[in-house]
Amino acid sequence: MLPFTALAHPNIAFIKYWGNRSDALRLPANGSISMNLDGLETRTTVQFDPLLPADVVKINGRLAGSASRLRVVRMLDELRALASFRHCARVESLNDFPTGTGIASSASAFAALALAASRSAGLYLEQASLSRLARHGSGSACRSIPAGFVEWFAGTADADSYAVSIAPPGHWDLVDCIALISAEHKTTGSTEGHALAATSPLQSARLADAPRRLEFCRRAILERDFALFAGIVEEDSNLMHAVMMTSRPPLFYWQPATLAVMQAVRAARAAGLPVCSTVDAGPNVHVICPAAASQEAVALVENIPGVRQVRLAKVGGPARLVEDPPRPLH
Ligand code: PMV
Repeated sequence: MLPFTALAHPNIAFIKYWGNRSDALRLPANGSISMNLDGLETRTTVQFDPLLPADVVKINGRLAGSASRLRVVRMLDELRALASFRHCARVESLNDFPTGTGIASSASAFAALALAASRSAGLYLEQASLSRLARHGSGSACRSIPAGFVEWFAGTADADSYAVSIAPPGHWDLVDCIALISAEHKTTGSTEGHALAATSPLQSARLADAPRRLEFCRRAILERDFALFAGIVEEDSNLMHAVMMTSRPPLFYWQPATLAVMQAVRAARAAGLPVCSTVDAGPNVHVICPAAASQEAVALVENIPGVRQVRLAKVGGPARLVEDPPRPLH
């Protein structure tokens, strides 16, 4: 069977996914909205081979550890069942952004894997099915399948929980200036974090208000209304972190520098710079602004003590095949 290589970008959520209705299926407790991050990518090659005795999974040139390998093998198993064969596969995945920067790679990794592995299995999955498949590996990976600005519908069951593009990359020239901040401790991974979300008494309030935040964020993106966008993005991030900090046990992802960057961004916005911030399950701050403000945004945060580096990412395209013109995804 032929090898296929796919690439996918990570994404940054503006309305965040935190907590599952089903941990096994990664069915989210709420819908979410994100943008893909151009200039950061995972490239994954997959080849099913009838002569191979076991799946071989390499990540960044090394054999994957048992937990990562198991997540990959589960996705391969799902495809083997769909394609009705039992061949093992060789999987090689490379990130062009260094691991350890705290830029999560599971979204781009499982999006690229879903596309490369399904094609190598001889399956042409349409975009919604591909997004659903990627979701099984890592929830946020379903949002790295479609292009540009993306919404993941929580759905009611496995079949209708997938992501679609709500606007193409060229729709709005937003830039993510990622302030990389070192973590003192290894943080709790998102899979364990989602399982704790329901232990916070604040999660029910966060979920009850999610439809309003989704609507405001969708409207802000479609109308390119940065003031509306900035307010709702920061509110949503703070709500997620309030849930994290009040879960049992509590999760604290912010470092002092995280808060320093958030405060600098708020002050700059009050002074007229179109800029806002959002933080995932780690200490890095994603500083979002229109391209015209990106130089000022970088200057604002790069010298804050604790900021190691600032990486810029524009709005990225969809997961796609490399060296083989992709079929248009619907
Ligand atoms: O896809 P996961 O399980 O890595 O969860 C992602 C969780 C956040 O990054 C914190 C929020 C999000 O919506 O991306």
